Amino acid sequence: MTNAYKIAVLPGDAIGPEIMSQAVRVFKLLESKRDFSFELISAPFGAQAYFEEGKAFPDSTKAICDEADAILKGPVGLSHEASQKIPVEEQPERGAILPLRARYNTFANFRPIFLSSNMAHFSPLKPEIIKEGVDILLIRELVGGLYFGEKHRGVNESGQRFVKEALEYTEEQVRQVLVVAFEQARARKKRLHNIHKSNVLMSSVFWNEILTEVHREYEDIEVVHLLVDAAATALCLNPSQFDVMVMENMFGDILSDQGGGILGSLGLMPSACIGPNKAYYEPSHGSAPDIAGQNVANPYSMIGSVAMMLEMSFNMHEESRLVWEAMKNVFESGYSTADLSKSSDDITIVSTDRFGDLVMANLAELL
Ligand code: IPM
Ligand code: MN
Repeated sequence: MTNAYKIAVLPGDAIGPEIMSQAVRVFKLLESKRDFSFELISAPFGAQAYFEEGKAFPDSTKAICDEADAILKGPVGLSHEASQKIPVEEQPERGAILPLRARYNTFANFRPIFLSSNMAHFSPLKPEIIKEGVDILLIRELVGGLYFGEKHRGVNESGQRFVKEALEYTEEQVRQVLVVAFEQARARKKRLHNIHKSNVLMSSVFWNEILTEVHREYEDIEVVHLLVDAAATALCLNPSQFDVMVMENMFGDILSDQGGGILGSLGLMPSACIGPNKAYYEPSHGSAPDIAGQNVANPYSMIGSVAMMLEMSFNMHEESRLVWEAMKNVFESGYSTADLSKSSDDITIVSTDRFGDLVMANLAELL
């Protein structure tokens, strides 16, 4: 069967399994409405995997991911206190997420900062600033820079402990993510914000040199250079100036969380991590141990990650659009969850499961 897809499902920790169980319902629904079949293979990943198997990214999970057409990953990690029970190198960030990114060289991280006009009230920004919502595509380099550079701790001649952590990029690593960003800019508004810190960092001077070279192939695209600190302010004061933004790994980690801030919650941020042969999809947020097990987390970022997978890995553009539309309709009908909203005359707070029910019912009608 040509329309058969194999998906590795990594539910993760804390709220991960709760929001994942809603997200995978999209695949079941698509199977019932379309000529697709999805084989979902669940595998342990993160802190739970460490406690069960002694590894945060067990070999058996690696094998399942290797075989899969795409990977759907829930958030991982425990509270700071609970993580102390795990050796540093097996803590889920270092032991699972970074190795997953490295294994599949998922260098292009797409983090849409998106709020439709009917969801603009979620933003903490004033209505005159947020206007008709936000629609920014933040592209973060994901497998280089400070995260993956050489790390060293030692004691110097005067007996002081010291640390060195290198920000490393090859020209090819920079070029490949810039090409992705220019392509996205071409498909959208033909404007690309290049976020850097070339007034201080040599790595940014280097990055910008490569950008100038790549830009020659994309002369139809306007490039706007912006220092990363100024970009942080601009995101709050005038987010609508941005369309596609591209930046180094660490800058992208920080600015994408700020993106979640202007939306009102990181719970509204799905993401896609794209490599040359494999992609994985995950919410941009953590596993929220403080609200785990309460059935209150909104599954938007997890279901949105499925929508991104449908579009980017399987070219199911229409189906992807309808998933977004179904979620928008549910919010528009006045439903929300306790992590995102307080109940009011206009808003009915429902559980994670119920929110999932509403999205699936809506999607079933649209499909
Ligand atoms: C993210 C997360 C990760 C990162 C952590 C969990 C390793 O914050 O995906 O943004 O820093 O990249
Ligand atoms: Mn982050």
